Amino acid sequence: MLENGKRERDEFQFRAMTLEDIGTIAQIEQETFTAPWTEDAFRNELTSNMFAKYMVMERAGTIVGYGGMWVIVDEAHVTNIAIREPYQGQGLGKRLLRELMRTAHWFGARRMTLEVRVSNERAQRLYRQFGFVASGIRPGYYSDNREDAIIMWADLVPDLGAGEETAGASEGEAQ
Ligand SMILES: CC(C)(COP(=O)(O)OP(=O)(O)OC[C@H]1O[C@@H](n2cnc3c(N)ncnc32)[C@H](O)[C@@H]1OP(=O)(O)O)[C@@H](O)C(=O)NCCC(=O)NCCS
Repeated sequence: MLENGKRERDEFQFRAMTLEDIGTIAQIEQETFTAPWTEDAFRNELTSNMFAKYMVMERAGTIVGYGGMWVIVDEAHVTNIAIREPYQGQGLGKRLLRELMRTAHWFGARRMTLEVRVSNERAQRLYRQFGFVASGIRPGYYSDNREDAIIMWADLVPDLGAGEETAGASEGEAQ
């Protein structure tokens, strides 16, 4: 058991996703999403998509979450973001999204977009905290239940270190 939140947070690290991670990532997809991406989908992203940037968040060698996006000129399109179920609700999603936004900005993106299920209020809350604003609906976007997707956009700013309040990027459907 860790002594406090700060110490626990500090043990989490980010790095680029590699082909060796894909088995674990696909497993987390299965656990987390009703329309999970396959190993092939991730392999294709890592090997054949020059716009794709994927990162994992880990602690002591264990992957606890991951996120991906396409960075195309000044826009970043988030394709996936997930925190493994036992680690959810501890602020890690915020850290992961912040890191994605920072990385996108570093690669030159100035705006970020994503799709989120209408029913996924938890994720929508997270996104709103980072300055994302709904801009439209993709009707029937999700293949498993034809649920609508909300399209959200946020501006990317140089320093997201101050926190989410100041913040103001697949083939196939994004999660
Ligand atoms: C969405 C997800 C990435 C958020 O990560 P997380 O680590 O659970 O979230 P955090 O603990 O960082 O919380 C971030 C914010 O999310 C919202 N949130 C978190 N847990 C919540 C809950 N149980 N109910 C409602 N909102 C919740 C809150 O706004 C929270 O901020 P706050 O604590 O300041 O109020 C994660 O829950 C997940 O992987 N879910 C399944 C996959 C998914 O839905 N991905 C997004 C697809 S678009």
